[in-house]
Amino acid sequence: MKDIKYGQITDFVHFLIENSYKDKENIIFVDATAGNGLDTLFLCSLFKNNGFVYAFDIQEDAINNTRKLLDSNLYSNYELIVDSHENVLEYIKDKQIDAALFNLGYLPNSDKAIKTNYITTINAIKNIMSRLKKYGRIYICAYILHDNGEEAKYILDFISSLSKKEYNVIQLKLLNKENSPPEIYIVEKN
Ligand SMILES: C[S@@+](CC[C@H](N)C(=O)[O-])C[C@H]1O[C@@H](n2cnc3c(N)ncnc32)[C@H](O)[C@@H]1O
Repeated sequence: MKDIKYGQITDFVHFLIENSYKDKENIIFVDATAGNGLDTLFLCSLFKNNGFVYAFDIQEDAINNTRKLLDSNLYSNYELIVDSHENVLEYIKDKQIDAALFNLGYLPNSDKAIKTNYITTINAIKNIMSRLKKYGRIYICAYILHDNGEEAKYILDFISSLSKKEYNVIQLKLLNKENSPPEIYIVEKN
């Protein structure tokens, strides 16, 4: 495994995912926010032929960037979808979902006005939860500054209210950084 920094939330979330899924077979994983494809590439390379990644983004440019990255790495265990992640169940019809990853905010080096928002993100989380396998997980990397914390606040309100019998809900955050550093939330089905 490559060296990682726990303080880098994408490193940390990849570390958690790798430890939980690297030796598993037939994993169905949703990358809810493909962006430039770094997370999708990480997931495809983790599963190789033992798992499949459905990657969503509302921006055609993002999906094109992701496709280029994956093509140059010769992976084929994925489907790239230009649509909102809240429509996930229209694309994953008869399968249960092992896990999903949200990397919230806007596409780096692009129009900052096109970004995730709490209404569609929470709808997507609910839809994925309705198809989540036992012990399935939803990982959320939440950046606080792209909208003054609005999206993170509503997501936290929603996931904190989930039944403690049915789900474990986890929040990971840096305690000694200023300017609202990003946080990780995990919803794990019991
Ligand atoms: C922070 S970027 C994702 C970074 C990406 N995972 C990577 O590894 O490069 C957030 C992405 O979410 C996308 N997005 C915003 N709203 C969305 C929605 N409703 N459904 C799917 N993607 C959305 C944006 O277009 C943007 O590309």
